[in-house]
Amino acid sequence: MGGQDVLGKFRKEIRKAEYPRELAIDVMYALQARDGYLTDEGLVEGAELLGMTPLEMEELATFYDFIYREPVGEFVIHACDGVVCWMFGEESVVDYLCRKLDVAVGERSRDGLFTVLPSSCIGQCDKAPAMMIRDRTYGPLTPEKIDEILETLKQGHFPLIDEGDRDV
Ligand code: FES
Repeated sequence: MGGQDVLGKFRKEIRKAEYPRELAIDVMYALQARDGYLTDEGLVEGAELLGMTPLEMEELATFYDFIYREPVGEFVIHACDGVVCWMFGEESVVDYLCRKLDVAVGERSRDGLFTVLPSSCIGQCDKAPAMMIRDRTYGPLTPEKIDEILETLKQGHFPLIDEGDRDV
């Protein structure tokens, strides 16, 4: 890991910034893109660059759902676990996905493809129940639609079905 100077492009900006920590999220995303998730080493590297303590960086990292502090699958499924999305028959989207993929929340599936993370609301309440994979949202979901989406992803097709806010 490491090697690539993904932080180079930030150095100039940081020198000019009144509050370099404002770039913390972008720096964390860059480190995550380089290493697959925000590793402990990456966190320290980013903190040093921004003049923050690793603890301050960690606090920010854990606040953001899209910064991953553990290894994740190729597709991280942010399944909404918000109030509106509870209306999923007997089982929530999170529970269905975990059962289907045989994983616990936050765990990588055995094939390394998927990680399921619950989100409090992904801003798609009108399409509840909903989930987000990378920058695409899917909903309203049914077990059949989820199966179809997982199958398409397993076959290596992405993007699929919808274009962000079109119904699946
Ligand atoms: S509560 Fe699920 S998208 Fe808002």
